[in-house]
Amino acid sequence: MTFVVTENCIKCKFTDCVEVCPVDCFYEGANMLVIHPEECIDCGVCVPECPAEAIVGDTEPAATAFWLELNEKYADLWPNITASKAPLPEAETQNGRLEKLKELSPKPGTGDDAAPAPAPNRTEL
Ligand code: SF4
Ligand code: F3S
Repeated sequence: MTFVVTENCIKCKFTDCVEVCPVDCFYEGANMLVIHPEECIDCGVCVPECPAEAIVGDTEPAATAFWLELNEKYADLWPNITASKAPLPEAETQNGRLEKLKELSPKPGTGDDAAPAPAPNRTEL
């Protein structure tokens, strides 16, 4: 069993989910996250964290084979994300909008690399 990110994450990407995952199994695309099905330990703690209600267990009807395969495919292509970041600018208006699949970007997101280390404080060097 695994949990699966589904369509309503697209163009929202709130990223609250990544903060609670005990095994850091979220991967970031340009406008959606996915879960690595072989890393997910099925704890379910990410489900209530998602403001878009986009995460479902693979026994639920919304977790179709299409979404299972999409999560598996992109988990191998996109970078790992373990710390939340700002949602996409249009997240609130995109939350709940139907038929976002055609707007899914196959491009990778920036993952944890988006949070560069702070510049060194030269007075301490
Ligand atoms: Fe991570 Fe648990 Fe959600 Fe799986 S169900 S993605 S292990 S928080
Ligand atoms: Fe997507 Fe919900 Fe996480 S919108 S990024 S699955 S919090």
